[in-house]
Amino acid sequence: MADARAVDRTRSLFRPGVPSTLRHDGVLDVRRPESEPDGSRAAQRLMRFGPLATIYERAWRPLFRLWMGVSGPTVDVERTFAVRDLGLVDDSTRIVLDVACGPGNFTRFLAESLADADRRDALVIGLDASEPMLARAALDSARTTRTDLAYVLGDARELPFEDDSIDAVCCYAALYLVPDPMRVFAELVRVLRPGGRLAVMTTVRRGPEVVADAMATAVRPSGLTVFGPDDFTDVLRRAGFDVVEQRIHGAAQFVTGRKR
Ligand SMILES: C[S@@+](CC[C@H](N)C(=O)[O-])C[C@H]1O[C@@H](n2cnc3c(N)ncnc32)[C@H](O)[C@@H]1O
Repeated sequence: MADARAVDRTRSLFRPGVPSTLRHDGVLDVRRPESEPDGSRAAQRLMRFGPLATIYERAWRPLFRLWMGVSGPTVDVERTFAVRDLGLVDDSTRIVLDVACGPGNFTRFLAESLADADRRDALVIGLDASEPMLARAALDSARTTRTDLAYVLGDARELPFEDDSIDAVCCYAALYLVPDPMRVFAELVRVLRPGGRLAVMTTVRRGPEVVADAMATAVRPSGLTVFGPDDFTDVLRRAGFDVVEQRIHGAAQFVTGRKR
């Protein structure tokens, strides 16, 4: 159960007029009745399938490594990428948002990393659109007590947070699932404060054009998007980010940058 202070601190970051209700499991629900989650795609529907939330962290998420090639990073290494790319080692990073956090498998690690760095006033927030995923996140995070940690049930296409309100924004393994990925990406940029860091992991087109086209076509029926190598770095540079970096492992890209 999220503690009351984490919930209050999270609410204080919302835009004026965002309604929120606290559920019995401690998750803050900011969904508006008229905004149905985008459930038209098979991949989206799968993420709201209860049993997946139970096996996701141990059995499902490690399979993403197949997408990254045999020498690709393990999930543990990915977590260290996130900590580094988000600048959690910097003193000024206090408020961290993990968008499309699933069962909190990265969120908890980010919270523990801030606690290890003795960042006593840190707040980590996980946001996701799937009720089963967040119910699992709340359960598994009950023992993470050294950092304020809260979960929000909402839509990444319309984040409830004020502009420039978050010190570091993470979004791993999700942009390829949503029907409006560039809208979500714009939201990540909007809520990040100047000087704050963004870390994203998603798919990338690789290999000769014909192979990349075939791959994109093969995954399309499942609702997954395979992005171009410049899709996100271009947006960040146009938005005036500095220290924009991209690392590619197999058919996955890690993109990071600092907002100016
Ligand atoms: C593959 S999981 C990623 C979980 C975690 N970030 C990780 O790296 O393992 C993708 C998550 O994206 C969430 N998601 C999909 N569309 C979303 C949306 N529009 N708003 C918020 N979350 C969304 C799903 O519910 C799912 O939990």
